[in-house]
Amino acid sequence: MSFDLVIKGGKIVLSEHSFVADIGVKDEKIVSVKKEIKSNGAHTLDAKGLLVMPGAVDAHVHLQLPFCGTVSCDDFENGTKAAACGGITTLLDFAIQKKGESLIKAFEDRRKEADGKVSVDYSLHGGITDWNERTRQEMNDLVRDGNPSFKMFMIYRAQGWMADDGILFQGLEETAKNGGTILVHAESAFVLDMLVERHHTTEMMEKHGAYLHTLARPCYTEYEAVRRAATWAKVTGGRLFIVHMSASESAEIVREAKRDGVKIWAETCPQYLLLTDDVFKNKDTGHLYGTCPQIKKKHDQVGLWDGLKKGYVDTVGTDTCTFDTKQKSMWQGDFTKIPFGMPGVETMVPSVFSAGVNKKKLSLNRFVEVVSTNPAKIFGLYPQKGTIKVGSDADICVFDPNRRVVVDYKNMQTRCDWSPFQGMKLKGYPAVTISRGKVVAKDGKFVGTAGHGRFVKRKAWGKI
Ligand code: URP
Ligand code: ZN
Ligand code: ZN
Repeated sequence: MSFDLVIKGGKIVLSEHSFVADIGVKDEKIVSVKKEIKSNGAHTLDAKGLLVMPGAVDAHVHLQLPFCGTVSCDDFENGTKAAACGGITTLLDFAIQKKGESLIKAFEDRRKEADGKVSVDYSLHGGITDWNERTRQEMNDLVRDGNPSFKMFMIYRAQGWMADDGILFQGLEETAKNGGTILVHAESAFVLDMLVERHHTTEMMEKHGAYLHTLARPCYTEYEAVRRAATWAKVTGGRLFIVHMSASESAEIVREAKRDGVKIWAETCPQYLLLTDDVFKNKDTGHLYGTCPQIKKKHDQVGLWDGLKKGYVDTVGTDTCTFDTKQKSMWQGDFTKIPFGMPGVETMVPSVFSAGVNKKKLSLNRFVEVVSTNPAKIFGLYPQKGTIKVGSDADICVFDPNRRVVVDYKNMQTRCDWSPFQGMKLKGYPAVTISRGKVVAKDGKFVGTAGHGRFVKRKAWGKI
């Protein structure tokens, strides 16, 4: 048998188990996984002493997103290069429908922005902001054509993105029939907007600065919405995925709903696992961390890690939406004007490994499950992505568990001139990232070609 690439002697880590073996790659696919493979002149990568994991699948990014009066500054070209540097080989971004307009057109427009520029594979969730007979039909057509997931925002009234409960209910009803999944940004729009308004006084802003972003968004503004969405999922039988879950009470609600047989999954993000809302107290840098939902408290971190470990929080994604310090400075002391979002694709895999696996909060196999296998399964990419098996795409992260790195945005691919994790000491870092058989990053530096990545069609639930 001839190969394009042979990865020799690494410890292959899957969600189910780990073992030492060689991997043979041919024509972008894994064609052999065996104790001993003869290279026969193929390019050989020595992985002795290293972990060989399926490339991570980040199911939540917003590259070049027009939002909060600016556009997130890691675009499809640079954001996917950054992902490769961070061990991520598949990204899912969003095609958000303009209210009153076609959902399919949103997909076509977004693909025009990404195709030919991406360095790793990507796919798109639809973003449903409106509901009528045409939306329903378009949703079904998109599921049939390989796009089986749709996000609904329970907030963002001012942006025109909010899907009200009637839309959410009908979207969920539809997924019960068509095999799709509804992702929700779960926060309580009306209470949240009222609380933001109540805190939006000159006196309060002078006193609390960016910390008001936290004071105006108590945990109940998230967990009430999670409970409501879970209720609609239960009564409709639809499939529900809670994105960027930040509060421990929300995780408890997901746990109960799972026990109750609701088809519900949940994602959390490194910012909620590794940071606390103390970051908002810094007068000079607090506003940089403005993101929705906002970063919460220590006990929320504890609950989210517990959920990841025990299986009631299913995935880690980044919610990457990069705004640099100039963009963040648009806030001018007013917490309601902070562009919401932060960079994340380059740091997710190593930071969750350091804080999770090294600190014994996650086993190595569970780590692979939450950053790669579960998002691939939930969003219809498995076993093409999310595993290392004969027939899967050769999307691989060769990971050095002993490499020590101090996070510094200056050494990273992102266009961002700050990092939420700046100065964090990591042990374990991606050594080589392989996307469909091509080496695209080495030791945190991009070595691939823009345009190598492809749009990937996915399978609806029940068709995996
Ligand atoms: O603050 C965030 N998360 N920005 C991106 C948009 C969203 O809500 O996911
Ligand atoms: Zn969101
Ligand atoms: Zn998001």
